[in-house]
Amino acid sequence: MKYFTFLLLLILLNLSFGASGQYYDDPKNHDCLKCHSQQTYSFHNDMLDSEQKRLMNPYLIIDTIQLRNGVHHNFDCTDCHSYDYTTYPHIATLKLEPMATCLDCHAGDESFAKYEFEKIDEEFQKSVHYKDYGDNFTCAKCHNQHYYSPSARNSSSVVEIVEYSNKMCLSCHNDMKKFSLVSGEAKPTVVTIHDWLPNQELHFQHVRCIECHTAVEDDLMVSHNVLSKENAVRRCAECHSANSMLKASLYKYQNLQERAEDGTVLGMLSNENYVIGSHQIPILKIISLIIFFGTLAGIAIHLTFRIIIKKK
Ligand code: HEC
Ligand code: HEC
Ligand code: HEC
Ligand code: HEC
Ligand code: HEC
Ligand code: HEC
Ligand code: HEC
Repeated sequence: MKYFTFLLLLILLNLSFGASGQYYDDPKNHDCLKCHSQQTYSFHNDMLDSEQKRLMNPYLIIDTIQLRNGVHHNFDCTDCHSYDYTTYPHIATLKLEPMATCLDCHAGDESFAKYEFEKIDEEFQKSVHYKDYGDNFTCAKCHNQHYYSPSARNSSSVVEIVEYSNKMCLSCHNDMKKFSLVSGEAKPTVVTIHDWLPNQELHFQHVRCIECHTAVEDDLMVSHNVLSKENAVRRCAECHSANSMLKASLYKYQNLQERAEDGTVLGMLSNENYVIGSHQIPILKIISLIIFFGTLAGIAIHLTFRIIIKKK
């Protein structure tokens, strides 16, 4: 029986390796990536009957490492894109091809229930982005379907989670080309907007944009309702207090709290008395304890001597 289980495990392992390795073994993907993962591409020009080399538009270059780490890495390119892309020059009308959105594939699918796609969609539709731009602002504006992989749920590093999440917002709010693609105008940089926040760099490393810019939704792992700027969090005490709102957002994940036991920044956070921004440094704690008990001992010795001297 044991032997059987072992065999079954081996087969399963093999299957999962086969599945993740399949990507690179698949000749169809190699064909697309031959052009779409390089700075330059070559093709045979039938009209001149010669090989030609050209520069690839940087926005059409796919990063193969990120692709491999993404949740959809098992897909063929043509699972999402028309099979007609296999010919080059690509047929002009392919530009008009409608692309599937997250909800087209994920809505109502039990196996993805824990992500609550429908609820995310509901929240997203209340956001400033959707209110201003409607269906032109798709989920894909933030989530690249090639690369996306949930971070808050899987990573144990707050700095990593924050960076991953903030990159999504900055990829547009700090990229005037992408920004004007949506809004048709340029905007001040994120740094200028947040001038009032001291130590901005440190803050942006330790808190996500969505901490200050979304309404926290208890049922969701990540709130998706980005509010207008008037409703953004500005009060320092929202975070810099024993009852920090971060406990309900960035640090709400149970798995994070469990990992926090090992005395990292989060460990200190789960301690009710810790206030963000007032670091507890172990060595200082020890020194202050030494000073405290030293003083007590000093007083005790002093008192004993006084009593002894008085008695004489
Ligand atoms: C010979 C090189 C080459 C190959 C192979 C190739 N492409 Fe392209 N692709 C390009 C170039 C160059 C562009 C830029 C637009 C153009 O020249 O048509 C492009 C554009 C695109 C676009 C963007 C269209 C738009 O304007 O929005 C998509 C999507 C795309 N390719 C998908 C694929 C897929 C999927 C495959 C594989 C089935 C593939 N390509 C294979 C060179 C290639
Ligand atoms: C899970 C679905 C999915 C798979 C798999 C996929 N794509 Fe895409 N791709 C999309 C979507 C959706 C867009 C449009 C993005 C948007 O509207 O912003 C897109 C856009 C593109 C573009 C235009 C540039 C861009 O990033 O917006 C290129 C080029 C492209 N894909 C190439 C590929 C290649 C090559 C592969 C295979 C390695 C591939 N795609 C696999 C969904 C997919
Ligand atoms: C063409 C259909 C399709 C589209 C479009 C699509 N997905 Fe997926 N997605 C899938 C399938 C199928 C899987 C399972 C892949 C696997 O197990 O290898 C998956 C896996 C995932 C997972 C991992 C689920 C898990 O726990 O294993 C996440 C998260 C995810 N997708 C998010 C998104 C987001 C966000 C979007 C939109 C930006 C999106 N997907 C668009 C079909 C799609
Ligand atoms: C304004 C940017 C933005 C838009 C638009 C957006 N998201 Fe997200 N989404 C995020 C950020 C930021 C995260 C957190 C990333 C992380 O840590 O995984 C996230 C996380 C997620 C997750 C993972 C949640 C979990 O439980 O782990 C899913 C699934 C998701 N988004 C789906 C969607 C869908 C579906 C849409 C469109 C209806 C959408 N998102 C639109 C920014 C956005
Ligand atoms: C694809 C581009 C894009 C992405 C990605 C994006 N935004 Fe936006 N955002 C915009 C545009 C365009 C506006 C509208 C600006 C305007 O009209 O004032 C906007 C508006 C806003 C506003 C409201 C400003 C106001 O005037 O009230 C906030 C807050 C905001 N975004 C935060 C975020 C956050 C947080 C993220 C990441 C989770 C994000 N955005 C991702 C393009 C983007
Ligand atoms: C500590 C809280 C906090 C964090 C973190 C934060 N913001 Fe803000 N943000 C605000 C406040 C408050 C305002 C309103 C400022 C004002 O009206 O002068 C604002 C304004 C904005 C605006 C509106 C600008 C305008 O005038 O049109 C955008 C866009 C924005 N933030 C994006 C971001 C992005 C992207 C990030 C992450 C890199 C981020 N914010 C991180 C608090 C924050
Ligand atoms: C969204 C939550 C949030 C808000 C709002 C916020 N902070 Fe912070 N702040 C943090 C976090 C998280 C850190 C970083 C690190 C730590 O100590 O764990 C930090 C760090 C700091 C530091 C550096 C402390 C040190 O030990 O180096 C200062 C100073 C600071 N914040 C001041 C402010 C002021 C002033 C405001 C209001 C204008 C403010 N913060 C608003 C979350 C926030």
